[in-house]
Amino acid sequence: MIRHVLLFLAFLSSSTSLANSITDLCVADLKGALNPAGYPCKKPPLTVNDLVFSNFKAGNTSNILKASPTPAFVAQFPAVNGLGLSAARVDLDAGGVVPMHSHPGATEMVIMVRGRITTGFIAADNSVFVKTLKEGDIMVIPPGLLHFQVNAGGKKATCFVTYSSPNPEPQILYNALFGSSLDSDLVARTTFLDLAQVKKLKVKFGGSG
Ligand SMILES: *[C@@H]1O[C@H](CO)[C@@H](O)[C@H](O)[C@H]1NC(C)=O
Repeated sequence: MIRHVLLFLAFLSSSTSLANSITDLCVADLKGALNPAGYPCKKPPLTVNDLVFSNFKAGNTSNILKASPTPAFVAQFPAVNGLGLSAARVDLDAGGVVPMHSHPGATEMVIMVRGRITTGFIAADNSVFVKTLKEGDIMVIPPGLLHFQVNAGGKKATCFVTYSSPNPEPQILYNALFGSSLDSDLVARTTFLDLAQVKKLKVKFGGSG
């Protein structure tokens, strides 16, 4: 009996130091250099708060998109470092839009929480997959494909999104074309858009060239 009690106490004392002995957990040290495997590990001891993100809230939607994407990528939520996953929430006002973009290395799953959102992607063979989602729906966006979301109702809408990468930084199409320094003439020639229209959009989205 005493022996069992001692074993139990030994178990208790080892479990209190569990956080230090989790070798498959590498909470990011964001001051370290980012490399393809992620960030270096934060030095122990870790606490449970290293594993909790408390800012998964609706952001400010007073912007051109009428939307507030709230990322919980490795930069905001260092616990996902090296774990192959992350999340975001997207709140859309009436008329809100998440513009055409892709996550080059990440599959995405859209989990509807409230309201109605039309989301879709264009596959590499240009077939189109579009659906208006409501609470209870989830949808997969394959990796690397251009996709978008728009509010499909007259009320606020929210979805949560998960990614198969801790760092699924989006490439946003209008920023790439009109917010970059790529020469306007090259943008016009490679998109078949009118040069004057390209120059107008360069001004609107802060590009140069
Ligand atoms: C939201 O952003 C707008 C525009 O930047 C700003 O005027 C407003 O004060 C912000 N609202 C909140 C609640 O932060």
